[in-house]
Amino acid sequence: MHNIHDQRLLIIDFGSQYTQLIARRVRESGVYCEIHPFDVPDEFVEALAPRGIILSGGPETVTAGTTPRISQAILDLGVPVLGICYGMQTLAEQLGGEVMGSDLREFGHAQVVGAEPSDLLPALGVFPGKGSDVWMSHGDKVTRLPDGFVVTASTESAPIAAMENTARHLYGVQFHPEVTHTAQGKALLHHFARDICGCDGDWTAANIVEDAIQRVREQVGDDHVVLGLSGGVDSSVVAALLARAIGDQLTCIFVDNGLLRLAERDEVEAAFAPESGIGNVLPLNIKTIAAETEFMERLAGEAEPEAKRKIIGNTFIDVFEREAKALPGVKWLAQGTIYPDVIESAASKYGKAHVIKSHHNVGGLPERMELGLVEPLRELFKDEVREIGLHLGLPRSLVFRHPFPGPGLGVRILGEVRTEYAQTLRQADAIFIEELRAADLYDQVSQAFAVYLPVKSVGVVGDARRYEHVIALRAVETVDFMTARSARLPYEFIEKVSNRIINEIASVSRVVYDISSKPPATIEWE
Ligand code: XMP
Repeated sequence: MHNIHDQRLLIIDFGSQYTQLIARRVRESGVYCEIHPFDVPDEFVEALAPRGIILSGGPETVTAGTTPRISQAILDLGVPVLGICYGMQTLAEQLGGEVMGSDLREFGHAQVVGAEPSDLLPALGVFPGKGSDVWMSHGDKVTRLPDGFVVTASTESAPIAAMENTARHLYGVQFHPEVTHTAQGKALLHHFARDICGCDGDWTAANIVEDAIQRVREQVGDDHVVLGLSGGVDSSVVAALLARAIGDQLTCIFVDNGLLRLAERDEVEAAFAPESGIGNVLPLNIKTIAAETEFMERLAGEAEPEAKRKIIGNTFIDVFEREAKALPGVKWLAQGTIYPDVIESAASKYGKAHVIKSHHNVGGLPERMELGLVEPLRELFKDEVREIGLHLGLPRSLVFRHPFPGPGLGVRILGEVRTEYAQTLRQADAIFIEELRAADLYDQVSQAFAVYLPVKSVGVVGDARRYEHVIALRAVETVDFMTARSARLPYEFIEKVSNRIINEIASVSRVVYDISSKPPATIEWE
């Protein structure tokens, strides 16, 4: 088999909120692809030598002269090009067609009906005179075709909803095939990547794992590698992958900061136990560091959220560095960086990234420790990470676990963090999660957890009056964690969880359910 990166597509990002979705759909069709900004250097594109190019949508208008354009190098490559929305408009305009603005935005479902015969649209179920349901989101539209193109589909409001120059393999669609609202959109992108660009579909979980193992072995040779294992999906998948690749050259450091969920440490150890079948040398070297006291001492008296995050992040770095330095001969630090992190840090050069909270808790660690970086997930999306996690034998419960913030319960105990608050919160959270799993609701929500409110409220238990703290329950549904809405959990369910928490935890007198959306609220309370 040839290298799994050899047959690749290039996705040019014009700033659409859907660009990463395009890439995920292409990957799902078994084809490797990379996202780069529209002003990526020509030499880079030539060296990348993609088999095809997809131009994303974007928020700008081609009717203004200063907006992003496709570089001539891309058009000169001679490989198939598919322009989506803004990508189609700029393709049309740059090749001599015409685009006009409109005050009316078309947003939502639309019916496209096939016009001239097309190489591309049959995958969507669109033939001359026959239509399909698609998702539109545009103001401008193409009003005159460039030479050599034909109209392959129309909607009521966009007579040129798809265009094509079959001989040159240039295609444009005004609608968004990458979103699930476009009925056969995935099939269209599959057809483009596999048939029109001629890629074989080698990008599979099994091949990704084999390739990563080989590359890690080449990178580190006989050296030793250290990894911060947190119990989250990304670091667990890195651990499983490295266990396969380099066995006992890997040491995992698991820092117990006193802000973990109930039984977190046991679950991680169980996932990598000898009988798990993961790795070629077992048990995995996991060094658990009981650092609760150190974290709590440094957090004492601090109530401000960002200051707490910094303390937790810095303490983690100090503890990790100390423990890693105590290991003999470590040359490499493994990290669970994934592709969206890579894209976002590249995009931040263009001022796109918008940091509301300081999320990158362990930034700066590799420079300080003078270690090389091993990042075997750097080119993978989260769903691909999960898939290879399952392929490597990690339990579903771990692979599909809700995200958990780096500062852990530290940002779920409002204000000052105390050991006894953390103990109470851990118990309440465990009850909530246990009930969600029992009711088959866990996988239906994107993230669920309990929050500790250090305010006191009166309750009555039996004949006694209770004056204790309040627990808030939070469960959200979201696709990207940038926006979210509170999950509509059944009342009976919330009531049951509330009763259990108040009955089983003496230091809680009241439970409330958070119904705020993001925005304006955030998912976490701090
Ligand atoms: P917010 O609260 O910003 O959360 O709506 C969005 C997602 O990010 C997670 N989150 C964090 N993750 N360190 C992390 O690693 C942090 O400091 C942090 N703060 C929020 C949050 O759990 C949610 O999934």
